[in-house]
Amino acid sequence: MQVNWNDRFATRLEWMTTSAIRDILKCAQTPGLISMAGGWPEAELFPTAQLAEIAQQVLTQSPRDSLQYGLTDGLTVLREQLAKMSTAQGIPAQPENIVITSGTQQSLDLLGRILLNEGDTLLVENPTFLGALQSFKAYGARFRAVPMDDQGAIPEELDGHDAKFYYALPTFQNPTGVTTTLERRKALLERAREQNLVIVEDDPYGVLRFEGQPLPTLAQLAAEEDIARGGSGLPQRVIYCSSFSKILAPGLRLSWIVAPRELTGPLVMAKQGADLHTNALAQSMASEFIRRGWMPAQIERIRETYRVRRQAMLQAIEAYFPSGIYYSRPEGGLFMWVELPGEVETIPLLPKAVEQQVAFVPGKPFYITDAGDSTMRLTFASIQPELIHEGIRRLGGLIKAHLGA
Ligand SMILES: Cc1ncc(COP(=O)(O)O)c(C=O)c1O
Repeated sequence: MQVNWNDRFATRLEWMTTSAIRDILKCAQTPGLISMAGGWPEAELFPTAQLAEIAQQVLTQSPRDSLQYGLTDGLTVLREQLAKMSTAQGIPAQPENIVITSGTQQSLDLLGRILLNEGDTLLVENPTFLGALQSFKAYGARFRAVPMDDQGAIPEELDGHDAKFYYALPTFQNPTGVTTTLERRKALLERAREQNLVIVEDDPYGVLRFEGQPLPTLAQLAAEEDIARGGSGLPQRVIYCSSFSKILAPGLRLSWIVAPRELTGPLVMAKQGADLHTNALAQSMASEFIRRGWMPAQIERIRETYRVRRQAMLQAIEAYFPSGIYYSRPEGGLFMWVELPGEVETIPLLPKAVEQQVAFVPGKPFYITDAGDSTMRLTFASIQPELIHEGIRRLGGLIKAHLGA
């Protein structure tokens, strides 16, 4: 007898979606194509020689740490290092407040697993990171849009939704590249406090600032408030997620969560069921990389490269795009956001762009509302400046042709 799988799938499979972006990116893999589409860091900046040296060392000197089963919450020494780093960044944490995960994508999945019931409402910026929507949808979440402008998310929009949490990307947002201003950050926290709302702050790009003054994270602001009230400083309302993906290498699949202990226990329990623990070799290598003091120079190298490339993209846009088009001016991270005149829809524009050997990501899939038809996300991170120039020239020509300009 044939197995009819459709009778056997869990209801939750209906809530799952594949990433529209991944499907789009499949067409952007052709050799010779200038792809400003992927959210990939520059592979030339992976510290391969240093990682090779470290891998050799940890495999010979501490094979148990790097090859044996490990603790679910993560390698103790790495949790200690991350707690120190977190404290130095104004989020006072103990190792018990750190859970090491297999990428922020897993952090989001685990948070969904322990916090969400079917039908729960989540507040998400509109547009927002598609991978988060995918993770949360799989637990039956419903989304409410928090609109954004070029100052970041609009605080008043947090009011009155009885949401399980607000998923926030205040720094170099994916997809828009926008950074929420300090006033808005304070106002968002204030609103969250008034509404007794929890915030999940996703911050994979914060240290990759190449221009302007660093801003405190939401977690840091919450910590400052807590200390002012006589607390230990560990934020209770803000769960902070960050990652080694954009500062070391995404293939390591290594990230962390900073959270109150009431949360780390359930997170660890959920992670046990998911994958027992994060790759031990990757954890040992990252820990040794930090111990040797190599991280600041590594981050500086990335910042400098992205700064030059962001500049190249801005200049090319100014030179080749028709006037009157909105584009963000990110001060860090990987992405720039473009809003074309309403008559140009970017989804049908993509195949035409690919014909001309250039690719971008249409912005619409990042929205939870029926919006964003004329938007696109561009990355400058993984492309040489000459190719950025050429890619934007081709794209500009295409847009102009569309507009009859
Ligand atoms: C905002 C945001 N969160 C999470 C992730 C996933 O990161 P990781 O590689 O740590 O899973 C990304 C990846 O691009 C991202 O842009």
